[in-house]
Amino acid sequence: MRLVGKVALITGAGAGIGREIALRFAAEGARVVVSDIAGEKVSQVVQQITAAGGTAAGIVADVAREDEVNRMVDAAVETYGRLDVLVNNAGVVDRIMPAGEMETELWRRVLTINLDGPFYACRRALGTMVKQGSGVIVNVSSVAGVTGGRGGAAYTASKHGLIGLSKSIAQFYGSKGIRCNVLCPGAVGTGISLGGPPHEEGLQRLMKINELNPRVAAPSEIAEVALFLASDASSFVTGATLVADGGWTVL
Ligand SMILES: NC(=O)c1ccc[n+]([C@@H]2O[C@H](COP(=O)([O-])OP(=O)(O)OC[C@H]3O[C@@H](n4cnc5c(N)ncnc54)[C@H](O)[C@@H]3O)[C@@H](O)[C@H]2O)c1
Repeated sequence: MRLVGKVALITGAGAGIGREIALRFAAEGARVVVSDIAGEKVSQVVQQITAAGGTAAGIVADVAREDEVNRMVDAAVETYGRLDVLVNNAGVVDRIMPAGEMETELWRRVLTINLDGPFYACRRALGTMVKQGSGVIVNVSSVAGVTGGRGGAAYTASKHGLIGLSKSIAQFYGSKGIRCNVLCPGAVGTGISLGGPPHEEGLQRLMKINELNPRVAAPSEIAEVALFLASDASSFVTGATLVADGGWTVL
C-alpha cells in the first residue's frame, strides 16, 4: 500500500497503460481520479476500482482542450481536497509520417494532445501542489522521446518536447517540494492505434527496428514503473527520464 492517503489524477485512464496505472494506484491505496475523453471507458474503470474495494471518481475530459483540462484538475481537487500525483498519460500516434509528408492538421493534433495537454494539466496542478508544498508529476513519453526512429515526426517531436517540459518543471519546482519525472515505455501491448493508415516507408523502418525488440511489455509492467515514480520510493528522483523498454533503445 504505497499510495495510502494520496490523491492521483490520471489522463487517458480509460484504456491501455493509463487504465493499468489507475487500477494499480487504487490497489496501493490512492484515491484515483480516472480521466479520459471516452466517457464509457471512464465509467468502466471507476466501477472496476470500486468493485475491488478502492476509491475512484471519473471525469470526462479532452486533454487537447485547455478549458476541459482546467475543469478536470479543479474537479479532482474539489472531489478529494488535494492533488498529490498527476500522471499525464493520454497520447496519440501519427501514422509514422515523415516530416516532409506530414499535413499541418496531423502535426497540430498530435502536438496538441501529446504536449499542450500535459502542459495545461501541469500548469493547473502546480498551483495546488505549490500551495500544498508537495506533489509528484509523471509524464508518459516514449522511446520516441529519446530516439528518432520509433514514430513519425509529430509523435517524436511531441515526446521529446514532453521531456524538456518535465525537466523545466523539475528544476523550477524542486525547491517547492514537487518532483517531475518522465516515463518512456517501449512497445506495450495495448490497443493504441496508429491514428490512421500508416505511412508505408515509415512502417517498414519501424518493423525493421521492431525485429530487434526482445518483446512487447504488458501494461502492468509499465504501471509498476509509474508507481515507483509516483510513490515516496523515488523521493530522490526528479528531472529523470526513465526508459522501460526491455532494452530496445540499447540496440
Ligand atoms: N502502447 C505503446 O506501445 C506505447 C509506447 C510508448 C509510449 N506510449 C504512450 O503511452 C501512453 C498511453 O498509450 P496506450 O498504448 O495506453 O494508448 P491507448 O490508445 O491504449 O489508450 C490511450 C487512452 O487515451 C485516451 N485519449 C486519447 N486521446 C485523448 C484526449 N485527447 N484526451 C483524453 N484522453 C484521450 C484514449 O481514449 C485511451 O483511453 C501514450 O501517451 C503513448 O504515447 C505507448
